Amino acid sequence: MKFDIISVFPQFFHSPLSFGILRIAQEKGIIEVAITNPRDFTQDGVVDDYQFGGGAGMVMKPEPIVKAINHVKTKNTCLINLTPKGKRLTQNTVKELVKNEHTIIICGRYKGIDERVNSIFKPQQISIGDYVLSGGETGALVLIESITRLLPGALGNRDSANSDSFQEYLLESPIYTRPNIYKKLKVPQILRCGNHGLVARWRRKQSLEKTLRQRPDLLTSETFAKTDLAILMEVLNGKNS
Ligand code: ADE
Repeated sequence: MKFDIISVFPQFFHSPLSFGILRIAQEKGIIEVAITNPRDFTQDGVVDDYQFGGGAGMVMKPEPIVKAINHVKTKNTCLINLTPKGKRLTQNTVKELVKNEHTIIICGRYKGIDERVNSIFKPQQISIGDYVLSGGETGALVLIESITRLLPGALGNRDSANSDSFQEYLLESPIYTRPNIYKKLKVPQILRCGNHGLVARWRRKQSLEKTLRQRPDLLTSETFAKTDLAILMEVLNGKNS
């Protein structure tokens, strides 16, 4: 998967791309990341200007961004504009985005980019959450890491995407490692009993309960198995098992 990031702050990415899964995925040739600076497509280095109609905040000029996009665009490019006005990113969107071979991510700065960039290229407009950041750069890293985790070979055996929260609309159950007792707190006995069936049921119950308590909105899109409904009833009735 090739990522082309369009950003006026290329240095922003150097450290995050040099660690952990993003470094390893690049070394293994699973992903390739290049950064293009719209400033390099100007005569005077100016990439922003005042807003028509008045109002605080500078707007990124269309021409340097259009030129930067055209410089890296191919026939099969997926184009993404990161903006708080976009559709909120979910694991389902990530599962769709992982199918693309080439993704261009436009990082707006200041107040955002001139709307005509959207009119010309019709990129997918994506927000990483309902809050406002100072630019799309942080979001680009979120996007690249969430996609890379799903690419074959990117995660080693020590890690797994399958049991992650959201992978199937539920939050992940609590996890523990050694020591068995820490500050008088014991790992739940069931996780040490060696019965995989019991462990799986315990984890499912924990997942359902955590989702019910912390993110009930996620449960509306879940197609429950009958067993899940029985477990949820236990949770609601306050039964421990
Ligand atoms: N740029 C500024 N805020 C953002 C957000 N929430 N998501 C994506 N890009 C942004």
